[in-house]
Amino acid sequence: MNSYKELGLVNTRDMFAKAMKGGYAIPAYNFNNMEQMQAIIQACVETKSPVILQVSKGARDYANINILRNMARGATEYAKELGCEIPIVLHLDHGDSFETCKQCIDNGFSSVMIDGSHFPYEENIELTKKVVDYAHQFDVTVEGELGVLAGIEDEVSSAVSHYTRPEEVEDFSKRTGVDSLAISIGTSHGAYKFTPEQCTRNADGILVPPPLRFDILEEIEKKIPGFPIVLHGSSSVPQEYVKMINEHGGKLDDSVGIPEEQLRKAAKSAVCKINIDSDGRLAMTATIRRIFDEKPAEFDPRKYLGPARDALREMYKHKNIDVLGSAGHALD
Ligand code: G3H
Ligand code: 13P
Ligand code: ZN
Repeated sequence: MNSYKELGLVNTRDMFAKAMKGGYAIPAYNFNNMEQMQAIIQACVETKSPVILQVSKGARDYANINILRNMARGATEYAKELGCEIPIVLHLDHGDSFETCKQCIDNGFSSVMIDGSHFPYEENIELTKKVVDYAHQFDVTVEGELGVLAGIEDEVSSAVSHYTRPEEVEDFSKRTGVDSLAISIGTSHGAYKFTPEQCTRNADGILVPPPLRFDILEEIEKKIPGFPIVLHGSSSVPQEYVKMINEHGGKLDDSVGIPEEQLRKAAKSAVCKINIDSDGRLAMTATIRRIFDEKPAEFDPRKYLGPARDALREMYKHKNIDVLGSAGHALD
């Protein structure tokens, strides 16, 4: 058993309570390798933001759970060395079974998600409660999910979304004992969230997707006041990176993400955690493609992974400061 406390990590409990009070959301950034972890920590130290380092099943298959745990320990020491002991959570993203959650809890994760949203309601409750009962013995916090997002959720993919039903959230949170709840109000996973045809154009000619269902969020907040809500699928798909990828030999289809103003609005509500993965993939890919295109003789990985890390860091800083509002709250 590796306790997260020995790794210098924290669970989400205090973080969410402070985020709820302060009207901001904690960034939950996915990582799979050293450069992504370094970029996240640099950005969060520079902006003095708490952070959730997220690990998907894909990440564990790619990088190995022991390596990831030690990278999280490295992250806490790195933050200290950079000058600010920001609170860091190591979180399992989209846990698909009790066994997966248990393995992560036993391996130093301070928070896990059990994603039973694709199961019938009673089965979701049963599975989620089983994970909560195990996790809470070790003071590990648990995120559950109600409602289904469109797009690819790790192993689970869905062509259509089902919005969260506000009438279920109180019963679900009480009977499972979860610490936070992921909901579906119109976000979706991946870089292809909305096609241009699904959008309208604003006065500046910018494509605007259908707004998130803030009415559903408000209903949910009324049913479980002060309960931490999580938004998955919250990448904004920065058009400058899509353009850069396509200008340097890439072939991405047109796509529109979640507008930053909508995430800003959500962060001021009971939404305490906002998940972002795809934007990091786009920033890294765009930078690496540009360098390969402009300097075809370059073959030192540090010469393209380094700039990719810098681009990631700048993007995360922007999100912490201008979108999630978590900047300056590391030492609350
Ligand atoms: O929600 C899914 C995350 O973006 C992780 O994706 O399984 O490809 O690492 P992944
Ligand atoms: P994006 O694909 O929008 O970045 O969402 C990531 C996510 O929800 C991870 O759980
Ligand atoms: Zn997700």
